[in-house]
Amino acid sequence: MAGRDPQTTAAEIVIWLLFFALLVPAGVVGWAIGHSTAGGTRTVTQTVAASTANTTTAKTTTKTTPSSSAAGTAVKGEAIFLDTGCGSCHTFTAAGSTGKIGPDLDTKPSVDAKKENMALAAFVRESIVKPNAYISPGYPKGVMPQTFGKQLSKRQLADLAAFVTARK
Ligand code: HEC
Repeated sequence: MAGRDPQTTAAEIVIWLLFFALLVPAGVVGWAIGHSTAGGTRTVTQTVAASTANTTTAKTTTKTTPSSSAAGTAVKGEAIFLDTGCGSCHTFTAAGSTGKIGPDLDTKPSVDAKKENMALAAFVRESIVKPNAYISPGYPKGVMPQTFGKQLSKRQLADLAAFVTARK
């Protein structure tokens, strides 16, 4: 009786060892299969993600082009600034101008826009199209030409405003 118990126990241990000996490789194989399948799935996902990303990028680029031209292009604005003679009255570092008749465009518009509670871009646009809508403190009214709104196209005004607001 006393001798059977250890035998049974030994037999049980052998069975368990066999069980684990089979189970562990099975587990490893299963893991390997699962892992490689997961890897395959991941690759597919990446391919899909990549093609989706390409499509999105293409769409974004298409969208960006018209909106950036609607918002104005600073580089084009610089040429308009120089051609229109803004620099003869305004100091503006980006344009290399040192005019003293009107406010310094490096600093004044952001200060005055804040006083007027306006976004800088909107303020600059208004100041160009309707200079008398707001007169910068200490500067004469009616000196800045009132004609830019008619003289320049909408696109040119947007480009000009983009240039004036770009380096603030
Ligand atoms: C003949 C001189 C003269 C010319 C040319 C001129 N301005 Fe002005 N500008 C002024 C004066 C003076 C003021 C200040 C009075 C006022 O606020 O309208 C002013 C004001 C401004 C303001 C508002 C600044 C502020 O802080 O209130 C902006 C922006 C501006 N000019 C941009 C331009 C641009 C861009 C051009 C060229 C398209 C231009 N100006 C051409 C004289 C001129």
